Amino acid sequence: MVIRQSLEGRSILLIISGGIAAYKSLDLIRRLRERGARVRCVMSEAAQNFVTPMAVGALTGETVFTQLWDRDAEQDIGHIRLAREADLVIVAPATADLMAKMANGLANDLASTVLLAVSSPVLVAPAMNPAMWDHPATQRNADQLMADGILFTGPADGEMAESGEAGTGRMSEVMDIVTEAERVLDDRPKPLAGKRAVITSGPTREAIDPVRYISNHSSGKQGHAIAAALADAGADVILVSGPVTIDPPADVTVVDVVSAQDMADAVDRALPADIAVFVAAVADWRVSSQAPEKMKKDGSGQFPALDMVENPDILRGVAQRKENRPALVIGFAAETEKLEEHAKVKLAKKGADWIVANDVSEGVFGTDRNSVTLVTKGGAEKWPASSKDQVAMRLVERIAERFETVAV
Ligand code: CTP
Repeated sequence: MVIRQSLEGRSILLIISGGIAAYKSLDLIRRLRERGARVRCVMSEAAQNFVTPMAVGALTGETVFTQLWDRDAEQDIGHIRLAREADLVIVAPATADLMAKMANGLANDLASTVLLAVSSPVLVAPAMNPAMWDHPATQRNADQLMADGILFTGPADGEMAESGEAGTGRMSEVMDIVTEAERVLDDRPKPLAGKRAVITSGPTREAIDPVRYISNHSSGKQGHAIAAALADAGADVILVSGPVTIDPPADVTVVDVVSAQDMADAVDRALPADIAVFVAAVADWRVSSQAPEKMKKDGSGQFPALDMVENPDILRGVAQRKENRPALVIGFAAETEKLEEHAKVKLAKKGADWIVANDVSEGVFGTDRNSVTLVTKGGAEKWPASSKDQVAMRLVERIAERFETVAV
């Protein structure tokens, strides 16, 4: 898997305070670094009961700061500079004690002193026993911190690592903290801010009986990549997804569906939208009525005759709407030959604005690469073969250009 260098050139100061969730901070360091961030750590005295500065130093590749009055560290960098040089400060785990100090402006150890000197955004991931989180004092401190502009992720619900007790107090999952950090540090232009997009992705499943279905090999990778790229460009994205095994992209609303009819209904409910992209490999037919019980072999040696009817063409239905037609309707076409010619026919037949024609002669399902030609009413443009993520980014660039030049 290629990990986007979303935090490239960014400096993150991770403050680890003393809670059992500190073990997760080791994974957090790895995830932040593999996205390109420089990570420096401050560990409180109590944190060192759970993880060692040695482990933290090995994972960050940096000096670990543990003492307020450490002459070597002060000569080297100094706590004020440590605070100022970070683009983002993450406190994970944040204990009730550290939150109380932050809310009251106390500065009696390195972690709290650094937190009083920062000018960059601060993201806090609380982790504590549910009774401590629910306590009015902690709630008061959390409210104060939010009022001071401190960002929060979690705490989540679930079982506590040490006591098995259930309630609110678990530290956010590591990837949720990473996603929040990416969001805070994302200063890329948002050309599609304020635009709403609906995407279909993945296969559909058409039931034959309670255990069998007709489907196809679509992985959803291309559709999900387009949904992610649209969200990165600032669009408000609804991803209507057939059954897939890949993870949903961050920052999109996912509507899970099974059959073509479910997908058509979900798209209908998601409209109106400015942009609609139909990437799903929708089954063209379904069995007219699903058998209520599992079908049995009848001894004839023949596959039982199935009465098949055509599914609604979702792309055509939306492209030809009289009311609430999205300003830009994009379809996909899988072709093995005469790519451009077939795509032009499809463009006209369906009433789409653009067709992204996929060359599937060498197999595309489940792979990470795609070779496509963008066919519009104005002509065809062959793009070099590239990853599905790159195809998605290029398509979204084109969508953004189109909304720049045509005031819609
Ligand atoms: N599509 C749809 N609803 C359907 C069938 C297709 O929305 N019931 C959309 C797909 O998401 C895709 C495009 O229509 O954007 C593909 O058109 P389709 O007619 O299925 O073309 P191909 O799959 O390329 O197949 P064929 O060559 O048989 O036309």
